[in-house]
Amino acid sequence: YDYDLLVVGSANADLVIGVERRPGAGETVLGSDLAVHPGGKGANQAVAAARLGARTVLLARVGDDANGRLLLDSQRAAGVDTVGVLVGGAPTGVALITVDPSGDNSIVVSPGANGKLFPVDVQAAGCLFQAARVVSVQLEIPLETVVEVVRSLADGSRFVLNPSPPRPLPAEVLAACDPLIVNEHEAKVILGDACVSERPEDWARILLAKGPRSVVVTLGAEGALVASKDGVTRVPSVKVDAVDTTGAGDAFTAALAWKLGAGLSLAEAAAYAARVGAVAVTKKGAQDSFPTADEVAAL
Ligand code: RIB
Ligand code: NA
Repeated sequence: YDYDLLVVGSANADLVIGVERRPGAGETVLGSDLAVHPGGKGANQAVAAARLGARTVLLARVGDDANGRLLLDSQRAAGVDTVGVLVGGAPTGVALITVDPSGDNSIVVSPGANGKLFPVDVQAAGCLFQAARVVSVQLEIPLETVVEVVRSLADGSRFVLNPSPPRPLPAEVLAACDPLIVNEHEAKVILGDACVSERPEDWARILLAKGPRSVVVTLGAEGALVASKDGVTRVPSVKVDAVDTTGAGDAFTAALAWKLGAGLSLAEAAAYAARVGAVAVTKKGAQDSFPTADEVAAL
């Protein structure tokens, strides 16, 4: 394989304001100075993997604008191969993000060019699918494009999906996941009516019964659950002081996907990914906060 990881997904300019608390409907609050960071769940995953040392390529679409150049610069600086980054067709995606004093965020995404990453773009990038050991996707691109990715997977390659933002998924997509990676919110949406329990262990089991070969449920400070036909295992978290959690889930997913491709077990890969995510929450921004392998080792 030429690449350890092919990420297919979104690239956004993150417009971030720190707030004491989020405004309610009809309310105005004052926040911090505006910060603009490279983000987007796909672009974040690619940078996270490349910074750890994975040979990574990104298939995405950005606008022919300053935000698009910000994203391309960030990918290249991290060592991501940007041969699959398409330019033009709509403005670069934008995420409006507030971060509160506990480091938690809320995000509104305007997809822009991400919404114009079409199945035909996946078809045109067929050679990348032959060249990548693992393919990782999120849901800030059209669902038809995700379906086309599943149909384009090479024999023997591994498909990893973080369904964020969540929506019900076709059986064809669920069946390809190895693993499906969800947080609590995403688990509940994917489960829908099947969410009959408040116990994450049950979510993991019921999600697995919906078709994925494996499932990871991330639980923030409580760590993660990994589930496969071998059963459900808890992976502990690493305690850190959170500054900004934005993108930590993307770093977790990228690290997990890479380590699975390198032959680690699901539990081993999740334990490593938890350490990567832990470093990411201690710094501001998404991509700007992702660690090198040395920083992970030093944690
Ligand atoms: O997961 C974090 C990311 O979600 C941000 O970078 C933002 O762009 C949104 O895609
Ligand atoms: Na961060």
